[in-house]
Amino acid sequence: MMKMPEMPNLDLQAIVDELRSSARRTKQLWLNDDSLAFVARGREYRSEFHVNPSYEIQYSLIGDLHLHYRTPEGKEEVAVVPEGSCLYQPAMVPHSPRFGPDSFQLVIERSRKPGEVDQFNWYCPACDELLHTVTHTVDDYKVDPVSRAYEQMNASEEIRTCKSCGNVMPVIEMNQPKISGS
Ligand SMILES: [Fe+2]
Repeated sequence: MMKMPEMPNLDLQAIVDELRSSARRTKQLWLNDDSLAFVARGREYRSEFHVNPSYEIQYSLIGDLHLHYRTPEGKEEVAVVPEGSCLYQPAMVPHSPRFGPDSFQLVIERSRKPGEVDQFNWYCPACDELLHTVTHTVDDYKVDPVSRAYEQMNASEEIRTCKSCGNVMPVIEMNQPKISGS
């Protein structure tokens, strides 16, 4: 007999409350061969653009999302996703989800295929030239790949120095979210 596959049925408010009472930014809801999902709370410092081989469904659970993205011409645009709304983001669109630490997003993606890598791109704050790309194999959201990318960026002044205009992007302060009830 075939084993019954896992069928997660989740109380999103309870997950939001769990994140609020921890210092963590993300909680993975499921990860299987087809699909992965997580709830994220916002990061004040978010500045990079994520390039995902998968689509992303961005659902604003609490608060509004300002999804900054770059067009194929390299122009930065903003899509606003108010609380209760959702956006379908096609694969490979460089995007930077900006929302506050008291706002929460549900994100649903396709699991990566073997060999697929995600990119986290930083652009020079002075001249907008591509500063650096951190690549990461996303096979588990529990490792918080976004935080790992920021750590890598902060670790080297050389990679924060623009090869085009010489501007040095300062270290990005990764503050911890406020923990409720403490
Ligand atoms: Fe993303």
